[in-house]
Amino acid sequence: MSNITRKHIEELISKISGLERYLEEISAPEQFLQILDKAKQEILTEKYGLVFEDHTEENIRKNNVNLVEERSLRIENGGQMNQLIEGENLAILKLLEESYNGKIDVICIDPPYNTGMDWLNYNDHDCADEADLYIHSKWLSFMEKRLKIAYNLLTDTGVLYINIDENEIGNLLLLCCHMFGENNIDTLIWPKTDSRFDQNRVEKSFHNIKMAHEYVLVCFKEKSQTNFNKIKLPTLVNNQWIDSFAEMESILKGLGTTSSAKDELGEIFGNRYIFQTPKPMRLVKELVRAASKSNSIILDFFAGSGSTGHAVMDLNKEDKGNRVFILINNNENNICREITYERLKWVIEKEKYSENLKYLTITYGD
Ligand SMILES: C[S@@+](CC[C@H](N)C(=O)[O-])C[C@H]1O[C@@H](n2cnc3c(N)ncnc32)[C@H](O)[C@@H]1O
Repeated sequence: MSNITRKHIEELISKISGLERYLEEISAPEQFLQILDKAKQEILTEKYGLVFEDHTEENIRKNNVNLVEERSLRIENGGQMNQLIEGENLAILKLLEESYNGKIDVICIDPPYNTGMDWLNYNDHDCADEADLYIHSKWLSFMEKRLKIAYNLLTDTGVLYINIDENEIGNLLLLCCHMFGENNIDTLIWPKTDSRFDQNRVEKSFHNIKMAHEYVLVCFKEKSQTNFNKIKLPTLVNNQWIDSFAEMESILKGLGTTSSAKDELGEIFGNRYIFQTPKPMRLVKELVRAASKSNSIILDFFAGSGSTGHAVMDLNKEDKGNRVFILINNNENNICREITYERLKWVIEKEKYSENLKYLTITYGD
């Protein structure tokens, strides 16, 4: 009942009162009046929280599910063994729960934003149909199922980062407060445009307000027990941008933009539009730097173009770390094989990262 408005409550109460009067007039049995009185009390009890309907995901099979390596796609370049897993992330997360519960230090995710734009190279339209009255509850239900498992996978001092924009920030914040506790959530702002990086930016049309930022929700398993490392931020010294260590601030300036993320893909694939919604590697790198130890396990179950894998390997190279990553993405439009995998392969070779990679797919035995 918590999602009904004051006006709606008043209307319901007035209808129930009318029914009560009618029942009294016709001397109806007392028990009918008692039922109505109970309903009134229920409606008038103040509640606060997020109410949404649970949506089942028919296509998630639970039995005889396994991960199988495609040996021909293995990359061996020394160092740690990372994993790229192709498939539906809920089914894979359920599998990971068996061996990684309480073991993941950092989770970075950039889920579909529920924009209803089915031109996106991913399954956004499946959980966001503009004509669908349940647009928000479908998305929340989709997210809640995955976040519940994410919560279990985190270590006691683990951190989950979630990229999100204005479409669902309000709902997601409430959901995460409910799951992690209000005191365990912070909200960062990521300016997604910046003239310093945006040489190739194509202006999009907008109505009244041009959105120049997104958000990163930071969900701590236990914030009071978690200490962030300093991150590297560009600072202007004698008219020159120099990276220096600083405490993380709530506005993540100077770490790349939507346009610069596309430039990164342009360099790799010769086509900056090959994937619509990449995040800049540097943004993810600093988020991981803040929350990880040198041997942390980092998970991204909406891997997209693989920026999280790239960021982890770049950080390892810089500070001689041994972090390992697990990335998950479905293979809709061949994203996992032709973009995520190819990017990781390309950067391992180009940057001479001492890293290994296994490519796994989910199999169903029934
Ligand atoms: C916004 S993109 C992530 C972009 C990524 N952060 C990057 O920098 O490239 C979301 C990704 O999640 C994937 N995805 C959406 N729903 C999924 C699901 N249920 N299981 C696995 N992957 C999914 C999409 O294919 C898409 O590549």
